[in-house]
Amino acid sequence: MSDILTHVDAGVMTLTFNRIERKNSITAAMYAALADGLAQAQADAAIRVVVFQGHETVFSAGNDIGDFLNQPPATAESPVFRFLRGISTFTKPVIAAVSGPAVGIGTTMLFHCDLVYAGDNAAFSMPFVNLGLCPEAASSLLVPQLMGYHRAAEALLLGEPFFAEAALEVGLVNRIVPPTETNATAQAVARKLAAKPISSLIETKRLMKKGQTAQVADQMAEEGVSFGRMLREPAAREAFGAFMDKRKPDFSKV
Ligand code: COA
Repeated sequence: MSDILTHVDAGVMTLTFNRIERKNSITAAMYAALADGLAQAQADAAIRVVVFQGHETVFSAGNDIGDFLNQPPATAESPVFRFLRGISTFTKPVIAAVSGPAVGIGTTMLFHCDLVYAGDNAAFSMPFVNLGLCPEAASSLLVPQLMGYHRAAEALLLGEPFFAEAALEVGLVNRIVPPTETNATAQAVARKLAAKPISSLIETKRLMKKGQTAQVADQMAEEGVSFGRMLREPAAREAFGAFMDKRKPDFSKV
């Protein structure tokens, strides 16, 4: 079975992370499937809403570390960058249902979703520094904007997880539900949205976002250059090597 399930029903495209045994970590092939799904949803007038969902125990562990080591994104056309451009410029409503861990891009992608429903077991983290990397997905702009600088610094410099209640308090999450109901909640809201006039949805989203569209694209491009460079540098090599060897990283020499 595919690692990304794409399902269209009643005007709603649902993209499901389906690699639970690897905690829904995302490979280049999965990014390509997500980017293709978004492109299809953007082009198809019959699709009005997109939902991202995972499993009740895990949303996504972020980049698949081995896959990233083996085939680091080399150009702006790499699947991960295609996905990030797709989600950040998507004109129709996007909903996410998050239960369990949402690591790295599993959290940063949520800043590009319009509505987020979280299981009470949701744990959000952006451990880029701990991996010798820097933020991506314009999170270095959007996280301080939403959470305030000091909470953003805690999330991005320390890279420690924060949980559903904290995410609700800062406005990253719309509602907390039992993990077994997260996906169903997102689906119910998606159907509600899909019944509304699509031109009004698109125009309202455009107007809400227009003030920062260019800034988001700029920040994402700059982050992408740094992230791509840092991925090849000693700190990331050490962090990723340590993850693969199941040991603590030693940054004393990098
Ligand atoms: N890339 C590759 N493999 C991953 C992965 C990732 N991002 N996240 C988890 N896995 C693998 C684990 O190595 C493990 O493999 P194994 O069974 O061969 O040992 C398997 O998935 C299960 O993960 P495990 O760590 O045992 O699950 P857990 O429930 O204890 O913890 C997480 C879940 C998500 C908190 C933890 O796996 C984690 O922190 N993953 C790394 C997240 C990360 O740093 N992502 C990169 C962001 S840029």
